[in-house]
Amino acid sequence: MRTLGNLLVTGGAGFIGSAFIRRVLANPAFTGTIIDLDAMTYAGNLDNLAGVDPARHVFVHGDILDGQLVEKLVDEHRITTIVHFAAESHVDRSIHGPGTFIQTNIVGTMRLLDAVRARPHVHFHHISTDEVYGSLGKDGIFTETSPYLPNSPYAASKAGSDHLVRAWGRTYHLSTTMSHASNNYGPYQFPEKLIPLMILNCLEGKPLPVYGDGQNIRDWLHVDDHADAVWRILERGEAGQVYDIGGGNEWKNLDLVHELVRLVAELKGEPVDTYRQLITFVKDRPGHDLRYAIEGEKIARELDWRPTYDFVAGLRATIQWYLANPAWIERVKTGAYRQWLDTNYATRS
Ligand code: NAD
Ligand code: TYD
Repeated sequence: MRTLGNLLVTGGAGFIGSAFIRRVLANPAFTGTIIDLDAMTYAGNLDNLAGVDPARHVFVHGDILDGQLVEKLVDEHRITTIVHFAAESHVDRSIHGPGTFIQTNIVGTMRLLDAVRARPHVHFHHISTDEVYGSLGKDGIFTETSPYLPNSPYAASKAGSDHLVRAWGRTYHLSTTMSHASNNYGPYQFPEKLIPLMILNCLEGKPLPVYGDGQNIRDWLHVDDHADAVWRILERGEAGQVYDIGGGNEWKNLDLVHELVRLVAELKGEPVDTYRQLITFVKDRPGHDLRYAIEGEKIARELDWRPTYDFVAGLRATIQWYLANPAWIERVKTGAYRQWLDTNYATRS
């Protein structure tokens, strides 16, 4: 079992990083401090961390590309483990502007690895995605030994970062682990991804844009399950190993949108047709992967970890969260969430 002292979390103001921080700080097994290094791109939102104990969460506004800053933080805060969430994460944005994906996801990961290279006592956990494996047909399933066949600039940049983690680990004898998760959902997700976009558009009576024929399949994982799986890997994962984290939960996009519509109608006490009529088929995403699915056998067998969420219950709770948090939505929609300097968090570097 790895001893977890102070953690450097990158991208902790984003969707999954913030869920991880909230969860770890609530875990009595963790007694350290989290240093949260985030560049505050459009995806960084400190509202996601409202209420976390500021004595145990040190927010640092900075870029993972700044190697000197990373090294200073690791030394000053006696970091034992880096958990690397920071990334450009949205496929559609990568199609329109791949450059920042290469910079942040590949060069940024190299900067972090170089900091560890000079400090080999630090363990490095890399958060990656099932999209590096490309697309499945109707059959088959991804495992840790599936070939890398990325199809989008986002997936290619994450694949590149995975290769760096492997190579730096082997060449420089670093302690690394890596995980590939399937599509995450849950509270605080930025409304550019499928599930929050559909929920918010339902609430505003806007069209629900389904790409292509809606027959693409994704495997959905609750963000808290993802955070728990990462924690398990940090504690028990073997250095040099890769673990895939799936939800065991495949849905066709169109079926999922119908389920969301049904749940929103139920929770709002309105007829399903009010929302169903908003479903609109739009031009397909270029290079749109047909299907992702993760086997998840290795993490179950070796680390005794399995997802716990029932998907429909998780979706209902997610919709309820958005319904209960209009201020969060409003601040995202108006851009007020970007006024993060006015919050109680000091910028320290
Ligand atoms: P997100 O886009 O919500 O958050 C990314 C965070 O990284 C933001 O806070 C942003 O400000 C920060 N960031 C971006 N560039 C940075 C830089 N150069 N330096 C420092 N911080 C920077 O992303 P997410 O959905 O929370 O995803 C987190 C990680 O999980 C990513 O590595 C992503 O590839 C991976 N992942 C995501 C999913 C998913 O479904 N969202 C699934 C599997 C894996
Ligand atoms: P997304 O949430 O962008 O995640 P990823 O591309 O990483 O899987 O999209 C999930 C699926 O939903 C994907 O097949 C694309 C589709 N999609 C739509 O049909 N409409 C939308 O508006 C969005 C954002 C996604």
